[in-house]
Parts: sequence; structure tokens; C-alpha cells
Amino acid sequence: MAIYLDHAATSPMRREVLDAMLPVLRAGLGNPSSAHAAGRAARLALDEARESVAASLHADPREVVFTSGGTESINLAIKGAAWAGKATGHRIVTTAVEHRAVLDTCTHLEKFGFEVIRVPVDRYARPDVDALDAALDDRTCLVSLLLANNEVGTITDIEPLVARIRAVTRAPIHLDAVQAAPSMSLDVRELGMDLLSVSGHKLEGPAGSGVMWIRRGTAILPQHHGGSQERHRRAGTEDVAGAVGLARAWQLAETERPATVARVRDLRDRLLAALVALGDVEPTGHPRDRLPGIASVLVGGLDGASLVHALDLAGVCASTGSACTTGSSEPSHVLVAMGIPADEARGALRLSLGRSTTEAEVDQAIAIIGEVVARQRANGGRDLVAIPVTATP
Ligand SMILES: Cc1ncc(COP(=O)(O)O)c(C=O)c1O
Repeated sequence: MAIYLDHAATSPMRREVLDAMLPVLRAGLGNPSSAHAAGRAARLALDEARESVAASLHADPREVVFTSGGTESINLAIKGAAWAGKATGHRIVTTAVEHRAVLDTCTHLEKFGFEVIRVPVDRYARPDVDALDAALDDRTCLVSLLLANNEVGTITDIEPLVARIRAVTRAPIHLDAVQAAPSMSLDVRELGMDLLSVSGHKLEGPAGSGVMWIRRGTAILPQHHGGSQERHRRAGTEDVAGAVGLARAWQLAETERPATVARVRDLRDRLLAALVALGDVEPTGHPRDRLPGIASVLVGGLDGASLVHALDLAGVCASTGSACTTGSSEPSHVLVAMGIPADEARGALRLSLGRSTTEAEVDQAIAIIGEVVARQRANGGRDLVAIPVTATP
């Protein structure tokens, strides 16, 4: 069994979540929009899930929109708010280190006349506040920020940024909290933005489930048409089992967070210290304000993609950065925006731990990574791992 150190890409669904979903799937509940008993049972399960999610966010259940995942929530929040606000302005302000779901959505909107300002960041991936101030004006129709970076784990101190934005514009503010949600408590009233995106599979819930929170009174244009579900904000029959699973996963994450965060952080620090001890390995991301589970480094002289491949063969699941850009030969846009030269950025390795990661797994991974890095370095950075030969048919 491989050692799974890629929880930032997806976290395996936990047993309690499956236990919560199975009765819903087995009962063959009706369509939550149907008027009969089976429909009412589905509606009840969906309403309970919505209330539970709202409690996790300190929000009103009517502000919770179930979606098919983080990417859809982000698309709905950004496109929905941008189109709804186009009459007042066409400028979208975001940062250079957002997830592709945000950046590509913004790039798409440029084709329709929106102007996108990608605020630069410092060497830890935190937005440059002066550049943010300069980007904001009364033509701004939306600001989209990232709470915790998925590649290097840096957490952005959102509240002061929201205050700065509010001083200039009334444009809605969206927060991508997909990567942050498992490790951070999210109180939407305190954070102060208007839209927020979360994904089920990062919370040890089901993939294909997500939430967009929308503050009451915030205008968006729906991006799906064909039904009045989710209070006309997201047409389409709801995935009741997915919503139930996401709600349960989030509830468990909330209850267990203090203990989980402390344990995972200790394991991550141990792993990071061992990586640095290999020599010519530099941690990336903020040294203190970052997610507890992410150990991201630059391994000098090696190619991250080749290292990930060799680790895979040796039984460790890791990544170079975002799973969404796997296969790209370009260095990570996040690392480049942080000012890391492209040739150094190619040595990026991200190991991400989760609640289910054990001490034994971390120790074993440390030994394996040490061997693989030493072998690759001895081979001049080339991946000379023997690929097992299988009989061809
Ligand atoms: C910060 C961030 N935003 C958005 C997404 C996309 O979420 P999903 O995989 O649920 O579509 C991810 C997934 O990696 C992410 O890390």
C-alpha cells in the first residue's frame, strides 16, 4: 500500500462520511423538488445538510448553495458576480497565485470585455497590499482572493485586506477557501467577504460536492439554467447524498480540528526538517502562517516531475504542486509569482499530510525520499529508476 502524501490534491473519504451517505443512497430518496413523500424525505435530508454546512460557516442556511465542487463554486461566484456587476464596472481584481479555477475563469471573462488585474505577491505568496490598493477603483465589479494557497500552504490574513477593499469599493469579495476549509475555522461574519467557495473532497468528503456561500443581498447571475433549485442560484437536481456527505465531513473536521491540526503540524514539521537535512532543499511558503499539512520545498538540482515519478515507483504519492496542472512542463505560476527563478521552481515538491497520515508513514516516507533524492542526485538529476518490464500481449 502506497504512502499517500497528497491530501492537498484530494483527501480519501472517511468512513463516517460513507456511513452518512449510504442510507441516503440505499433509501432511493426522491427528487427534493417533488411534492410526494419520497421527495419530502430527500428535501429533509438536504435541508439538514444545508443547516449543518451553515453552522460550520456561522451563516444562514439560505445563503448556502450546493454545487458539484470547488471549481463550480468558484465559476458561479466569479462569473455570477462579474456579470451581475457589469453595469457598475468591468474590473476584476484577483492575485497572481490563485488556483487555476479562479485564474482561468477570470481569463475567460477577459474575452467578454472584463479587465482583470492580477495583483503581485511577496516571496511567501501574500498579496502586495499597495498593488491591491492601486488596483481597486470604482469600476471594480469583483475582488477574488485566496485564503490558503494550495501549492505552498501560505495563509493570507484576509480581514485587513477586506477592510482595505471596503474602503474603496462596494464590489463583492469572493474568497477561495477550498484548501483552507479542512484546517481553518471559517466564520463568514468575521471574515467579511460576500462569496466563499468550498470543496467536499478536500474535507475527506465526497468528490463532486461543493458549497458556494453567498451573503444575503449579494447579486449574482446564475450560470446554470433549467430549474429553480438552490433558490434560483444553481439549476439542476441536487445531489442529496453528496450534500449529506459534505456536511458530515465538515462537521467532523470542525469538531476534531484542534487535535488534528496539532498532530498534523508536528508530523509535517518532522517531515520538513528531514527534507531540509538532505541538503540543498529549501522550504517554500510562509514559515509560520501556513496550512499545517503542507510541506512544500524546492529540491536543488532535481526536476520535481521526475522526482514525483520516482517516488511513485518507490511507493510514495506526492506532487510537484497543484494536481490540476500535472502534465504541464511549465514551472508553477505560484512559485514564479513568488519570485522564484523558473529553473529553481522546476525542483518543486509538495508533500501534503492529512488527518489519516500516521507517524509510521511519515518515518517511512522520510527514508524513501532520502534514498530517491540521493539516487537521483548521484545520477546527475536523471531518473534512472528501472521501469518493471511486463509481458506484452
Ligand atoms: C485552492 C483551490 N481552489 C479550487 C480548487 C478546485 O476544487 P475542486 O477540485 O473541488 O474543483 C482546488 C483544488 O485543488 C484548490 O486547491
